[in-house]
Amino acid sequence: MSRPAEPIARPPAVLAVDGLDVTVSGGVRAVRGATFTLGRGEAVGLVGESGSGKSLTCRSVLGVLPTGCEVSAGRITLGAPGTEPGTGPGSRAELTAFTRTQWDAVRGRRIGAVFQDPASYLNPSLTVGRQLTEQLRVGAGLSRSEAHTRAVELFTAVGLHRPEEVFHQYPHELSGGMLQRVLIAIAVSCSPELLIADEATTALDVVIQAEILELLQRLRAERGLALLLVTHDLAVVAESCDRVLVMYAGEIVEDGPTAEVLAAPAHPYTEALLRVASIGAWGRRELDIIPGRPPETGAELPGCRFADRCAHAVARCTEGPVALHSLDGGRRARCLRPAGPLDEAPTPDAAGSGETPETAVAEGASV
Ligand SMILES: Nc1ncnc2c1ncn2[C@@H]1O[C@H](COP(=O)(O)OP(=O)(O)OP(=O)(O)O)[C@@H](O)[C@H]1O
Ligand SMILES: [Mg+2]
Repeated sequence: MSRPAEPIARPPAVLAVDGLDVTVSGGVRAVRGATFTLGRGEAVGLVGESGSGKSLTCRSVLGVLPTGCEVSAGRITLGAPGTEPGTGPGSRAELTAFTRTQWDAVRGRRIGAVFQDPASYLNPSLTVGRQLTEQLRVGAGLSRSEAHTRAVELFTAVGLHRPEEVFHQYPHELSGGMLQRVLIAIAVSCSPELLIADEATTALDVVIQAEILELLQRLRAERGLALLLVTHDLAVVAESCDRVLVMYAGEIVEDGPTAEVLAAPAHPYTEALLRVASIGAWGRRELDIIPGRPPETGAELPGCRFADRCAHAVARCTEGPVALHSLDGGRRARCLRPAGPLDEAPTPDAAGSGETPETAVAEGASV
């Protein structure tokens, strides 16, 4: 990178993930050394092909990993460095050392979450109003009537028309978009510091999708909450995220301010994602059109996990581990190329279209 080194001002961290490993199926490493931070009020996009470890990373932060999956290494800290340890708002809590009781004090209160399928996170036999008021009574300690008033305010804030009417409805009586608004109301009801949205708009049609994203942005601005947004859509990242984290085969391979990463990706995988984006078709399957396949989950490789799909790979790439290098402008990339010149020709078996990085970037820049 030829840009001059400049200190990058970031808000104090709300979340710090350091060296996170998640194993599945009795020891298979599905997330490998994930290290990143989220600043107060920042929106960070998490992108990567299906199976790259995005949801396991989010679920680790929420303490809700599926059965058979566990955090096997690393630390997750909620709250800014230097603040008092504890579970209360604004304090510093090491989530990876949490007991069940400590989780109850934080999940749903300091960290909210919304997922792809809102119906499965709501109780079909209770009205949505009741589900929100229960959260407000338990999580925020409100009385029954305070919780009712607050619930109607929250339903209004998330853009539900006739909130009093919605209050008395059951999940099956509401559309997917309305259910997602209900879930967002529940997620932000206790004024969390962090909101995790794991493909929260994927199942919705494009108009509703745009409205929900706008709602998340508005809530972030109004409430100063940090947003971790998992998506397959780089256009969403371009529009709504301050920073982007790119995951590939369990590892974070690139991290940096969105505008700069999308204008000039430092990792060939990000470059490939942008090339796919420039074709104009979005969605889960489109990411699969990058030539080749990711390694099996848990496969232990000596070097870069992207090397056999990379047009720029040289022998050194597969000889030893490639670290996530710090670059100028608060960026990081797990690649030898931006960290210093590669003095070898690409390996003949390296995959890719033969395109130069410059063409790929130019195409990608149209995202
Ligand atoms: N409950 C589970 N049991 C076994 N393996 C799992 C489980 N959950 C996830 N995995 C494996 O861990 C890897 C990462 O999964 P994860 O769900 O985090 O991917 P993802 O990036 O969120 O993908 P997608 O974009 O499809 O949601 C995948 O290989 C997946 O098969
Ligand atoms: Mg997922």
